[in-house]
Amino acid sequence: MSMMGGVRPEQGPPLTVPASFFVAAAVALAAAGGWLLYHGLGAVADRYLPGVLGLTHLITVGHLGAVMLGALYQMVPVVAGAPVPAPRLAYAVLALWIAGLLALLVGFGTGLPAALHAAAALLSLAAALFVAPVGWALVRAPTRGVTVAGLRVAVLGFAAVVTLGALMAFIRSGVSVGVPLLPAWAAHVGLGALVWVAGLVAAVSWQVLPMFYTAPAAPRGPSWTSLLAVIVALGAGVATAVLGLAPTTAAAGMLPAALGAFAVAPATWGWLIRHRKRRRSDPSLVFWRAAAAAAPVAGGAWAVAWWRPEPRWLVLAGWLFFVGFGVTVVHGMLTRIVPFLAWFHRFSAVMGKAPVPPMRQLWPEARVQAGLRIQLGAALLGAVAIATQSDALARLSGLALVGAAAVLGRGLYGALRAPASPR
Ligand code: HEM
Repeated sequence: MSMMGGVRPEQGPPLTVPASFFVAAAVALAAAGGWLLYHGLGAVADRYLPGVLGLTHLITVGHLGAVMLGALYQMVPVVAGAPVPAPRLAYAVLALWIAGLLALLVGFGTGLPAALHAAAALLSLAAALFVAPVGWALVRAPTRGVTVAGLRVAVLGFAAVVTLGALMAFIRSGVSVGVPLLPAWAAHVGLGALVWVAGLVAAVSWQVLPMFYTAPAAPRGPSWTSLLAVIVALGAGVATAVLGLAPTTAAAGMLPAALGAFAVAPATWGWLIRHRKRRRSDPSLVFWRAAAAAAPVAGGAWAVAWWRPEPRWLVLAGWLFFVGFGVTVVHGMLTRIVPFLAWFHRFSAVMGKAPVPPMRQLWPEARVQAGLRIQLGAALLGAVAIATQSDALARLSGLALVGAAAVLGRGLYGALRAPASPR
């Protein structure tokens, strides 16, 4: 148990709970790629296009959201030490989440109020059914530390992002909700990127890098300081939306969290990776390195977008952050953690009694490498397509994203459908 660092895998949910979220996430990534292939520049040219809103949410809600919800069902009991009540409720959450996403896509595409209202209702219900038991477990969690604190803040951020998204869906349908659109938009985007995505990735990284890569424990200064910045961002975002403040207020309050997400956390990951005890090469670490490199570039694009009204900069920033950073780091983590989970569920009980395959065989290195190359290729092609406004490159990037999703799906299938007893 020493390599487990005090975590309790036996408290986790049935393997099918996180697994179904991860499989859904791979399908959503393929759909995002297909969407980009189909719409071309129409999916990345300007933030107000329905094609852009659709692609954004296929990635943030469909892909990243599904992975993150599934991972929290797994991590909260195992890492925070408090079982999540009614884990099978997760299947209802997933079904509502996907139905809500489909309604949202229809709503963006057609503007039909009924679709937008259905999306708001389904996604809010899914979020409530997720936050109630997971939040309950997190409140009661006995484990202390920066990871558990970070998970709590990220889940609060998630609730805020979904609430703001639902309110904006009503605004889009022409219903007045008492919250003006611009502050809500700034809060929704800022909290989605910095608190929910970057905040959760950072919290998880402080646990995952030491546990899976023999890195040293996260240094207290950078990890707690960036969490503090995330808390400030959460407060600033919620206050901006609720009080209808100028979007610049949200931006100012989120600046420290942006520095944390784009500079401090990635630099700390680089340091942790360089100082790990056993320096075995591991292709899944290259995903971490690539994501750590993408984060400051995304931050640079945000900064430019702030000063230059040209729409491509904001879309480029979003693409670099959600696809270059988010999708990349998630893909890498899945290649490392899913084999571990699958191995634990399938083989740990028969250890010593029957031949057991090595964990790495459950997600072969060649497949990790292929996923890495295609994912980075897709992220890069998309960035060039947005910067140069090239329709052909945008479609090519979509095709590559479909390829990355296919390799990811193949990896999940291979690990989760591993034969129960080896040949
Ligand atoms: C789960 C429920 C969600 C709903 C109902 C929702 C709804 C919306 C709506 C209606 C807009 C357009 C606002 C406008 O009219 O200008 C929007 C924009 C946006 N949302 Fe969401 N959203 C959700 C979740 C998320 C999540 C989880 C993230 C990120 C992690 C996210 C990221 C974004 C971004 C980046 C934009 C700006 C896109 C653009 O302007 O092109 N959303 N969302």
